[in-house]
Amino acid sequence: MKKVTVASLLKMKQEQQKIAALTAYDASFAKLFDDQGIDVILIGDSLGMVLQGADDTLSVSTQEIAYHTKCVRSGANRAFVIADMPFMSYSSPDVAYKNAASLMKAGASMVKLEGGEWLLDTIQGLVERSVPVCGHLGLTPQSVHVLGGFKVQGRESTQAEKLINSAKALEEAGIQLLVLECVPTSLAALVSAAVSIPVIGIGAGAQTDGQILVMHDMLGISANYMPKFSKNYLLECGNIPDAVSKYISDVKAQEFPGAEHSFE
Ligand code: KIV
Repeated sequence: MKKVTVASLLKMKQEQQKIAALTAYDASFAKLFDDQGIDVILIGDSLGMVLQGADDTLSVSTQEIAYHTKCVRSGANRAFVIADMPFMSYSSPDVAYKNAASLMKAGASMVKLEGGEWLLDTIQGLVERSVPVCGHLGLTPQSVHVLGGFKVQGRESTQAEKLINSAKALEEAGIQLLVLECVPTSLAALVSAAVSIPVIGIGAGAQTDGQILVMHDMLGISANYMPKFSKNYLLECGNIPDAVSKYISDVKAQEFPGAEHSFE
């Protein structure tokens, strides 16, 4: 079984094969997802909400992400493992270098940062120091209080144009993957076409290069609520391995997300 790498993810985009990704936070789920053929596992700061029961992701620390990254790493064999950099852990390039180093040492193969142009120097510096970087645009949950809630982004044309330009600037700075969250399907398609790196969508329609869901949402077991863009695969399949396998095959066959999971 060949390990997934940044090079194989790029090849998947070039060959128009969809990338299937899930969050995970422990070794058992990481192994189960890996065994079913998941391409990417993200240790998301969503763990603040789905594991810790918080209303948002802001309280999560780098140490917590590092702990869960170590757990996931020991369960994941084939999948590409990305660790989220939590709120304020990349507030300046030097802070980012220190925190990214601890996530890479815990077993991540890439770190993910939320935001646009203000991150260009940080991204360039991380890449120069051999830390692969994933960007995150659209709804960036660490900015929930600036955005005024967990809302769809990029519906106005100026906002949409800014988002496309940000994606291009992040690619130029060195990101090798981009997560695009909660934007209209048409905008996500434009962003995916505007950059040569793979774009993984969540609530961004079916025309991105891949999909990611928070595992608790995909299993319908999140403590708080079920986002419109997710689907309860456990309800449909009755057991966890089949639910994960069906999610992966639906993503690959472009049967998920449907219009009912997407935004206009
Ligand atoms: O924290 C997380 O789980 C994420 C995904 C929603 C992409 O960033």
